[in-house]
Amino acid sequence: MNKHEAPIALSVLHKNTRHDSGPKHVTGTAEYIDDMIEPVGTMHAYLGLSTRAHAEIASIDLAAVKAAPGVIGVLTAEDIPGENDVSPSHKHDEPIFAQGKVHFWGQPMFAVVAETRDAARRAAQLAKVEYRDLPHALDVRAAQAAGGALVTDPLKLERGDLDAGFAAAPRRVKGSIAIGGQDHFYLEGQIAFAVPGEDEDVTVYSSTQHPSEVQLMVAQVLAIRHHAVTVQVRRMGGGFGGKETQGNLFAAVACLAAKKWNRACKIRPDRDDDMQATGKRHDFVVDYDVGYDENGKIHAVDAVYGARAGFSSDLSGPVTDRALFHADNAYWYPAVRVRSEPLYTNTVSNTAFRGFGGPQGMMAAERWIEDIAYALGKDPLEIRKANFYGTHTDNVTPYHQTVEDNVIHRVVEELEASSDYQARRQAIVAFNQTSSVLKKGIALTPVKFGISFTATWYNQAGALVHVYKDGSIHLSHGGTEMGQGLYIKVAQVVADAFGVGLDAVKIMATTTGKVPNTSATAASSGTDLNGMAAWDACEQIKRRLEAHAAKLYEADGVDCQWVQGGMMVGTRFVPFAELCASAYLNRVQLSAAGFYKTPTIHWDRATGRGHPFYYFAYGASVSEVTIDTLTGEYSVDRADILHDVGKSLNPVIDIGQIEGGFIQGMGWLTTEELVWDGKGQLRTHAPSTYKIPLASDIPPVFNVKLAEWSVNREPTIGRSKAVGEPPFMLAMSVVEALGMAVASVADYRYAPQLNTPVTPERVLMGVERIKREARG
Ligand code: MTE
Ligand code: HPA
Ligand code: MOS
Repeated sequence: MNKHEAPIALSVLHKNTRHDSGPKHVTGTAEYIDDMIEPVGTMHAYLGLSTRAHAEIASIDLAAVKAAPGVIGVLTAEDIPGENDVSPSHKHDEPIFAQGKVHFWGQPMFAVVAETRDAARRAAQLAKVEYRDLPHALDVRAAQAAGGALVTDPLKLERGDLDAGFAAAPRRVKGSIAIGGQDHFYLEGQIAFAVPGEDEDVTVYSSTQHPSEVQLMVAQVLAIRHHAVTVQVRRMGGGFGGKETQGNLFAAVACLAAKKWNRACKIRPDRDDDMQATGKRHDFVVDYDVGYDENGKIHAVDAVYGARAGFSSDLSGPVTDRALFHADNAYWYPAVRVRSEPLYTNTVSNTAFRGFGGPQGMMAAERWIEDIAYALGKDPLEIRKANFYGTHTDNVTPYHQTVEDNVIHRVVEELEASSDYQARRQAIVAFNQTSSVLKKGIALTPVKFGISFTATWYNQAGALVHVYKDGSIHLSHGGTEMGQGLYIKVAQVVADAFGVGLDAVKIMATTTGKVPNTSATAASSGTDLNGMAAWDACEQIKRRLEAHAAKLYEADGVDCQWVQGGMMVGTRFVPFAELCASAYLNRVQLSAAGFYKTPTIHWDRATGRGHPFYYFAYGASVSEVTIDTLTGEYSVDRADILHDVGKSLNPVIDIGQIEGGFIQGMGWLTTEELVWDGKGQLRTHAPSTYKIPLASDIPPVFNVKLAEWSVNREPTIGRSKAVGEPPFMLAMSVVEALGMAVASVADYRYAPQLNTPVTPERVLMGVERIKREARG
């Protein structure tokens, strides 16, 4: 048992604790980058974007831009002292400013820098660009038809004998599912604010999930060393993966201008430009071939996962890898081959988004489960159960990691009972027999999500803890706060470690100057990694304080016992502040850097084998919907969720993540639709045309519960489990419920096969298709 798990009265760990910025969020006093007081002379940059999907730049005339009122100057590729690249991959394929060619509509070609943001924004429209058009491929099917060029190496996962699997399967289903993309729609858009310093120095305030990478990018672009660049992030107004790499370009532009003119510079695109010029969730088309038997048991799966990667690699390699890692969701495939295609397309380069390809992989799995159920005339839940991983056998994934912590049976069993699934399903089937226009559907879907970065070296973190003479504490770590509650959770860990109240812990903004070489706050692993690193720092200081106490009170051999608020030295209680003050006078170091790396994980991409995930998070949801078969309109009437977060560090924060994840997932799968026109321009680049869920879209009955009995079998911080991404995929039950309602128009004889997002139009088209099929 870890020391920090010792039961301490009044400890704040595992307790409902409100978000440290909660009151500031709701009173509008939380400071975001655009709220910071600007130094005198602050300049404002704005990007000039291409208006072609794929073209040679025949000529570009920026004279009118430069002559516009308030303009200080322009930046193009020629103004970059270092590399014109902000790609996070080894490919170096993402220029800041296009040179020679543009690869998508909305690609930055130059930046204009002016005295005001308004002046810069107006001037950016004045460029005269002549293009020579080149052929473009916009989506997965077009890219495949054009030869299937890839932006990065594909992956293949294989296990078992595929031919034997198919031969042994009396039934077979082949099909395709198209799964839509998604805009992050963070409330705070991309933004960077750079302040030049002496010599080569520059400090940049960036809305990024990955300060260390922004530091690297700025250094590479300015041709300076990393130590000259300081990146600071107090908080983001949402990231959702959209700020894992997409902040790089903005930070680089702000720093280029700041150093060129030796004045502070801010860049903040408006929402339309943000949506056109920054990457989104990858949409996929998955082509599948599945062999199964009369009991619905799967024997073999062969599938290809085509993804719209956009014009450059960005994170498309690891995103499409993670789609394959979740091609199984919670199901055992005796024989399997899955292959990824990260396709080059003339669209913005797609990127990380909550789940990181996992949701797309799972949607495909749930699709063939659904196909099998309708072909056999059974409840899809029966087919799901028939194919769940076993706990001791049938538990090896397509990437050859054994699933050792499987709790999906218990989660599903409990949710099935608590949501009254069976009785409600019967009632719905009965309702559908008599209701002619309105039809209902219900579905239960599981989630199993792998925790750890699949880039193994990313699974490390650092922290810096200072204790002052009065017992107050400065806490810094490498993780960033985007609303998910990472800061409060790590502060709880530190308060608990020292046995002090949360008020003693000041949560410092994240900066590369305090903790170096950090990883993106991503892959849901922020608390696992940074919580442990902070705990390590606290433990070092505690060991020194223990030695000091033993010496000071001449009590070698006397029991020194940490208690809430301080230390018992024999029978004497020494308050924490007193202990710190005396430690200082006795020249005891009260500061420590902590470090953590995830144990046991390894992964060999070349062979497709390893143990990439430290553990799995599990969950399940039941959704009930009503559709109008004349209009396709629908409502989600009820959702029940049971989710596994191990031993929760902060139940209210975790429940907030689950609720938010589910609703954001529901938006992805139902109303959020990205539409590009034939010329490659994104036509849905504002909330007027792109519909995210509102508070009013929350199901009127929404029961969210934690699996209270769950304790991580791995020694994670407080035996908790990561919570950030896994609940997103719980929204799959909404799609399956809509499918059931659609299929009811022909007595469930035809599989619904709805592509996502399942907009009202798609529901109506689904109803019409099934009616047509039923007529023959
Ligand atoms: N929650 C809020 N409120 N805002 C966010 O931007 N991002 C999600 C998730 N929850 C996000 C969020 C994503 S994509 C990830 S990977 C995790 O939070 C990252 O934080 P964590 O590792 O601390 O959970
Ligand atoms: N998840 C999220 N972000 C990442 C990953 C991952 O597995 N790998 C690199 N960035
Ligand atoms: Mo989350 S997509 O890993 O930032």
